[in-house]
Amino acid sequence: MSLKQFIFETYGLAGELTRLGGDLDENYLFEGDFGKHIFKLMHHSFDRPLIEMQAAALAHIQTKKVSFETPLVIPALSGELLTYYSAEGPKRTAWMISHLSGTLMAKARPWKPALTASLGGILAKLDRALSDFKHPSLERPFHWDILQAGWVDEKLHLHQNTEQRAIVEAVCAQYDTLRPQLDTCPKIPTHHDANDMNLFVKDDLGSNQISGIIDFGDMVYSARIGEVAIAAAYTAMDSDDPLANAAALLSAYHAEEPLTEVEIALFFPLLRMRLAVTVSNSAERVLTEPDDPYLMLHNAPGWRLLERFHGINETLVTGYFRKACGLSASPTSNAISDWLTDNHGNFTPMFKGADLGKAYTLDLSYSSATAVNTPEAQDTIVLNASIADAMTKANVSIAIGGYGEARPIYTGAAFGRNSDKPLAPIRTHHLGVDVSLAAGTAVYAPVGGTVWQAGYAADPLDYGGYIILQHSIPTGEQFYSLYGHLAPESLSHLKKDNKVRAGDLIGEVGVYSENGGWWPHVHLQLMTETPGRCSTPPGACEAGLFEVARSLYPNPAAFMGIENSATEWVPPNTAALLEKRGQTTPANQKLSYQKPLHIARAWKHYISDTEGRTYIDAYNNVPHVGHCNPSVIAAITEQMKLVATNTRYAHDSLTAYAHALTSRLPAELSVCLFTSSASEANELALRLARKASGAKNMLVMEHGYHGITTGAMAISPYKFGQSGGDAQEVWVHVTPQPDAFRGQYAASANVANDCAADTQAIIDGILAKGQKIAGYISECLPSVGGQIVMPEGFLKAVYRSVRAAGGVCIADDVQTSLGRLGRYYWGFEYQQVVPDILVLGKPLGNGFPLAAVVTTSEIAAEFASGPEFFSTFGGSTVSCAAGLAVLDAIDTAGLQQNAQEIGAYLEAGFKKLQNSYPVIGDIRGMGLFWGLDLVTDPISRAPASDIASYVKNRLRERGVLIGTDGPEDNVLKIRPPMTFDKPAADTLLFELGLVLAEAGVQI
Ligand SMILES: Cc1ncc(COP(=O)(O)O)c(C=O)c1O
Repeated sequence: MSLKQFIFETYGLAGELTRLGGDLDENYLFEGDFGKHIFKLMHHSFDRPLIEMQAAALAHIQTKKVSFETPLVIPALSGELLTYYSAEGPKRTAWMISHLSGTLMAKARPWKPALTASLGGILAKLDRALSDFKHPSLERPFHWDILQAGWVDEKLHLHQNTEQRAIVEAVCAQYDTLRPQLDTCPKIPTHHDANDMNLFVKDDLGSNQISGIIDFGDMVYSARIGEVAIAAAYTAMDSDDPLANAAALLSAYHAEEPLTEVEIALFFPLLRMRLAVTVSNSAERVLTEPDDPYLMLHNAPGWRLLERFHGINETLVTGYFRKACGLSASPTSNAISDWLTDNHGNFTPMFKGADLGKAYTLDLSYSSATAVNTPEAQDTIVLNASIADAMTKANVSIAIGGYGEARPIYTGAAFGRNSDKPLAPIRTHHLGVDVSLAAGTAVYAPVGGTVWQAGYAADPLDYGGYIILQHSIPTGEQFYSLYGHLAPESLSHLKKDNKVRAGDLIGEVGVYSENGGWWPHVHLQLMTETPGRCSTPPGACEAGLFEVARSLYPNPAAFMGIENSATEWVPPNTAALLEKRGQTTPANQKLSYQKPLHIARAWKHYISDTEGRTYIDAYNNVPHVGHCNPSVIAAITEQMKLVATNTRYAHDSLTAYAHALTSRLPAELSVCLFTSSASEANELALRLARKASGAKNMLVMEHGYHGITTGAMAISPYKFGQSGGDAQEVWVHVTPQPDAFRGQYAASANVANDCAADTQAIIDGILAKGQKIAGYISECLPSVGGQIVMPEGFLKAVYRSVRAAGGVCIADDVQTSLGRLGRYYWGFEYQQVVPDILVLGKPLGNGFPLAAVVTTSEIAAEFASGPEFFSTFGGSTVSCAAGLAVLDAIDTAGLQQNAQEIGAYLEAGFKKLQNSYPVIGDIRGMGLFWGLDLVTDPISRAPASDIASYVKNRLRERGVLIGTDGPEDNVLKIRPPMTFDKPAADTLLFELGLVLAEAGVQI
């Protein structure tokens, strides 16, 4: 009997069945006369009592008044809740439940803390409703039960990757240690599987809320905190802020059903244990069921989360979750903080004769050039010299500061940096105070205590010689003080458990070779939690944990007899900056992104904000050879030291640079004129064209952009076409853009021919009026026009027409030169043309203002017959030095080749995404110059401008910078610095994939 027939005969319902996802059981959406239902056909291995338990639990919940939905069990005509079905093979239990409304949580990303908080509240209510539910099957051997998760430890061999295996091993070891505490926790009947495939979401007043919960198949009598940790594990997967999502869920649960301090302490270890169970279950079952997609659903995100949390400062995380539940960060942190405040002024000076109250503040924040940072080389010699230099310039021998400071100087893997995962959070925020002063300076104990640990942390960037003292306060609590970067032999008089009195000598400030490789300073850090006996506590934490670190690692200023404010870093105030900017900047000088970036520094294809968050820069093409390229900086600086002047003096740089450019260009393009912006260069190109042709009429490509000067604006339809822009000049004639995807040529069989013919017709029209043509200008791969790759033969045909009409051909290669297109060094090359006038800009100086016009000797000679050409900054000694260094850096680092390889890799990735997300209507580009044309409908190709804006802003939230462009602003624009590498490309593709899967992007 078919399923349909079975349902009709058994339930009296006629309708259609659609198979849904499921783990072991088969689930069907049944749509019939009486609406939607879910028909469940259980796996034959499923015990009937287990299904009875689910049905009974659902019926039990119906007897309670709950504010969320759970399925109703639909009885068969016989009155039974469970029936049997058998087509072939063993008979299987079947049952029918009501269909919940709303969106499956899996399809309602992004999951923000407000959503996970609603889940926490609902789970607490569910647990309350089930608290008096009884069923014999609640207590059974069950491998998903968090109390029975010990099996994971026995299956470590299933994880092939040794690093991943080590992570699971560590999670299991912690679980074993905490087992006695877990056994004391309250136990209740739990749902035990509140994952995103079992939850429904509804929009409630503009904010997503959990509205229903299904699938009670994993119900088990287990630890209540396990219920919360399991749900939190899923809500944290691939979310913007996994800890915030988990904390919101936990605190909402706690508000409904108060948890004990022990349960709260177990929350994070159990969350990780659930992840370990998930990935281990996948690893085991994939051996026997390799093709079951449901099985692997949470495997990859589970691993990502396990990896994200591995090595995280657990003291801080526990404090973070305690605070989320309204507790102090640790049971002792408030008492210690009060004691420090009360005893301010009573401590013995740490250094003799040093007035720390007047000490110079050493700024090592992201905004400070003193904080020299070479992320790829962990050599601190340059940093140390820079600090010494800053102190010499300030004429000081003591400097202080750094509590809570976000610093770029923590570069190693020890600080969480992982070159394969450029967005992995790193420990940026300093947890102590640094006192910088001469090596050899004696350090005295500010307060008495006992030596907890003394030793030598030998790794580069570690503490070198250090000591930790344990202190007790009169109310019985203990805290610890750490003194790092000391000379190890100066500590030899102090051994574990020695008593130290206030004023006793601790040791001496160490030098580079013995203090972890740093400049001479003492790192003083307080800790309210007991540190380990054999490892050193971290001296920095990730940004999101610093607020809780304030309690657990309090500001040690009191120890030095100074005010907290003297040592505490105050993050730059972005809101105040924006307000101030608005006072002096016109409103049409816009900032990117709904939440503008307050930037501090950049490196290669990364930009960091003032608070130390680092973004992948997939948008900026000016820093062509990478942000802050050292060889370009050196070339500019060296030249600046010699002479910075103009072209009226003979100097090697101008000639060397012009020769370097022309040697890379076709022979016809032999004369260079330099300016400091591409707008000026285009303006100059116009003058050259007019002089050469004796005409004024310009043909410009629709949507083109060539700059901000009056002439450049006049030839930029992108600008004069806009409301509030100038009207089109009579000498400007707009020719069509050969866009094969959208517009008048979308249906054309030969876009190049048709569009060139239309351009010819415009030329003919001008000539027919007895007028002449000065020239034609277009970008090589029109960018603001929507990243349009012109079809083969187009420019060739147009250039032929223009020249035949007496005009010159200008190629604006401002965005697409110097290897940007991968296969081609110059943008015009892919069209197999050579322009008469080439305009270059943006990448030429890697940020130093430099643009150029390169033309033929004939055109140059015509131009030279006019007035003198002189530009104050154009072609200056310094700009030419910058330009030379850029050309050199492209060759030395093989960046054109890189653009080609990474470009091909990106293209393949974009195509894969397009297969899953029809919102990507078209993929256009080459090398490291891409446009993804987003559509609301793949057939009509209607532009998805709002979605493009959403994607751009969501990617910014997640740490990847791209732009949007095109006449409808619906094209995602990706054109990173040419250093863009595989880890960056992988991250971009991964993050883009996540955002494209979000609810706001579905079409
Ligand atoms: C194609 C093109 N031409 C010219 C310009 C003007 O360059 P600049 O801002 O250096 O004057 C730009 C700037 O965005 C451009 O993209």
